[in-house]
Order: sequence, then C-alpha cells, then structure tokens
Amino acid sequence: MSDVQQNPPSLSAREAAVEVITQVLLQQGSLSTQLSKIQGKVDFDHHALLKEFCFGVCRHFPTLNSIALSLLAKPFEERDYDVYSTLLLGLYQLQHMSTPDHAAINESVELCRTLKKDWATKLINAVLRRYQRDSEEIISEISSQPSVAFNLPKWLVKRIKKNWPDSFESIVEASNERPPMCIRVNLDKVSRETYKSWLDEEGIVSRETLSIDSGLYIENPVPVFVLPKFESGFVSIQDEAAQLSARIINPQQGERVLDACAAPGGKTGHLLEAMPNQELTAIELEPWRLERIEDNLTRLGYQAELIVSDAGDLNNWWDKTAFNKVLLDAPCSATGVIRRNPDIKINRKPADISELVEIQSTLLDNVWQVVEEGGYLLYATCSIMPEENSEQVDRFLARTSNALEVPLNTINSGFAMNISNAKTDHGIQLLPKRDGHDGFYYCLFQKTAVKN
Ligand SMILES: C[S@@+](CC[C@H](N)C(=O)[O-])C[C@H]1O[C@@H](n2cnc3c(N)ncnc32)[C@H](O)[C@@H]1O
Repeated sequence: MSDVQQNPPSLSAREAAVEVITQVLLQQGSLSTQLSKIQGKVDFDHHALLKEFCFGVCRHFPTLNSIALSLLAKPFEERDYDVYSTLLLGLYQLQHMSTPDHAAINESVELCRTLKKDWATKLINAVLRRYQRDSEEIISEISSQPSVAFNLPKWLVKRIKKNWPDSFESIVEASNERPPMCIRVNLDKVSRETYKSWLDEEGIVSRETLSIDSGLYIENPVPVFVLPKFESGFVSIQDEAAQLSARIINPQQGERVLDACAAPGGKTGHLLEAMPNQELTAIELEPWRLERIEDNLTRLGYQAELIVSDAGDLNNWWDKTAFNKVLLDAPCSATGVIRRNPDIKINRKPADISELVEIQSTLLDNVWQVVEEGGYLLYATCSIMPEENSEQVDRFLARTSNALEVPLNTINSGFAMNISNAKTDHGIQLLPKRDGHDGFYYCLFQKTAVKN
C-alpha cells in the first residue's frame, strides 16, 4: 500500500454547498467553477446532493432572496454571506426538498456553529421557524414582486417582456425548469439508431431530436459515466440548438476552419466528428479553460491546433493564412441557457449586456479579417437579447462592406431549420423551450470582394 494518503473528504454536502453559494454571492466565479473546485472535499456519494443544494438555491434565488429579505430586519453584510447562504439553503430545503422540516432547521443552526458564527444560531432558527409556520402568508404577501412571480431578477423580467412579449411565459417557464439532458452521438463512430439501442439495453429511455440527426434527449437524466462508451468518445453532452453549428458550417476535407472562442470545446469536438480530416484551429482566452478542450478532444480521439489567446488579437496568433470557415461562438449573457447556469439569476447585471455587446462587436470586426474571400463566418450566441444578436448583426453589416448575410443552409443545402424560431431581422433566434432546446442565435456571413 502506498504511504501517501489522499486527503479524506472533509466537508459535508451542506457545508460545501454553503461555501459554494457564498462564493457565488460574492461574485468569485461561476457556480460550475466553484462546484468543481470543492467537489474533491466531499464524499463521492454526496456529490449529487451537493449539486442539488447548489443548483436548487441558485435556481430559486430570486424567490428565496425575497422571502429572506421580507423576514430579516436588515440584509446581511458581505462578511456574513456564509450565514446568508445557510439561510437560503435552509429555506430551499423547507420549500423544495423532502428533508423533514426539523432536520432542515437543525442542520442550518448547526452550520452556523461550524462557521464559528454562534451569534447567528438564534436568528437562523427564528427565521426558518417563522417560514415553516407561516409560509403561505409570507409568500402571498410578496407574490406580486416580479422576482417571486417569475423567479427571475426584475431587470431581466422587464427585458424579456419587452423583447419577446408573445413568448414571455414560455421563456420564463423554460428558464426555471431543470434542464433536459441532451446528448450528441458521435456519428463518426456509431449511428444514432445503434446508440439509442445501446441506451435501451441499459434501460435508459431516450427520444430523437427533431432538428438534428445526432441528438437524443435522455428522459431521466443520468450521470455521464452511465452512458455507454462515454469515455471512448461515442457520445457527448450537448444541447440540440448547439448541435446545429457543425451542420451549418459543414466542414470539408482539408479545409482550414477556425473555432474562435472554443472552450470547453463542445463545438470543436462536433466539428471534428463531422470531418476529422480538416485543419481545425481552436482559440481560447482562458488557459485553464483550454485544458477542458484538450480533455474533450482526448476523450473523442481527435486533434486540433489549440491556441491560448484573445482571438481578436491577430498579431498574437495569426500567420496571415486565411480560413475557409470560422465559428465565432461569442462570449454572451447566456440568457438562453439560464436553466443550465442558474447563477445568472444572482450575478448577471444589466450593465454586463452592454459590456458584452462591445466585446462581441470587437471580436466580430477582428475575427472577420481572417476569413478568406468567399469564405464564411458563423456568428453564434446562447443569448436571447437582441442587442447581442440581430441588432449586433445589423451594426456589423452596416460598417462592413464585404460582409453579406446568407441563409443558414448556404454551405450545407441539406440543412433545414425545422424547429420554430422567433421573428428577428437577421439570422435565426431560437428561444428556450421547455423540455426542448436552449435559447440560441445564429447568423451566417459570407465574405465578398471589397467594392471600390
Ligand atoms: C460561449 S463560450 C464557447 C463555448 C464553446 N464554443 C463550446 O461549444 O463548447 C465562449 C468562450 O469564449 C472564451 N472567450 C471570451 N473572450 C474571448 C476572446 N477574446 N478570445 C478567445 N476566447 C474568448 C470564453 O472564455 C469562453 O470559453
């Protein structure tokens, strides 16, 4: 036996959840980043519970926060956000989990002691007991607040209503649900039909995506390691709408293709599955996120040139050889995928949208330069904000004389958009659909000769 002992799990699921939620409240990184940092300290058997606590609190944060504020004499200071997280977790268990009420309350009080904040035990006990006793009355008093009525931040409710009045309710519904699990079958290795039959053999019920021949929805989500041949790259987790990009780009043998904002590499892998013999370059700004692309490509068994850089900083990475096709899956507000990233409900602010619009605009201008004449750029976001999508495209077309918007089936005539999309001036806007695809935006440009 080795002398070197691994550190045994040192945190309970509740303790770890409080740490994660506190860090999210303090804007120290995304929920998924914080979760992956702490998981090693929690017994493997409790990982699902930890995830349920963290995702649950974030998913219901607007409502839980309103309840908490209505019961507290004053909000918590940042230095006590750990106590605040404890309270939110307690409320979440009382409202949404089958934890017996007394256990939810006692565990929350104990957590205050573990945090060495004994002063908070009385407060947390009193607030949770009050909610346990009078929950109906408390909820009815605050039910007209947008954050409670729609379980989304007020500013976001306003924007969704303004931009998509006819689809408002369905967007809210889809944004609040637990996300469906959609997988992408690697058609380079196996047909969807065969893979579906393997799932059937394991008792995993699935149904085909309608818009794309590689997707399957798993009726009851399972951990990835349960999926047949996941480790050998026969399948990946990817939303239906996200799977459209590789079909639209339709890479061909020997083509030079750029994936400009690539991590974690979902679309990089899909592009290679569609055509392993292309010259694919994938760029990512964050070095630690590039590792995620490496892991994904290793699992799938493909290779690409991987570069850490700002894709828009051409002097840093471009050798002046133009690309036939470019995918710009730009950083965005992720307002089409709130159900997968519910911490957006806590940390996304209206000012972020204008900042992101600027970043996207600069990226579009710079990355456009690497496209060959006659070549294509596919602009994609997982946002449902017109500023980031059709309005962004409108401004790009107005200032770029050699950019022509072309239909999404221009490269691949076999591509048919057979899922309903919202009315928009440019490109295709998909709104998130309950038990269906995420919110997504695509617009395809071709580079023409510069007019004199
Ligand atoms: C929407 S995600 C891309 C998702 C990815 N295409 C996939 O399918 O898995 C955007 C990515 O762009 C990266 N990014 C942001 N700004 C960038 C820049 N200026 N240059 C390159 N990558 C950037 C972010 O770190 C993030 O990983």
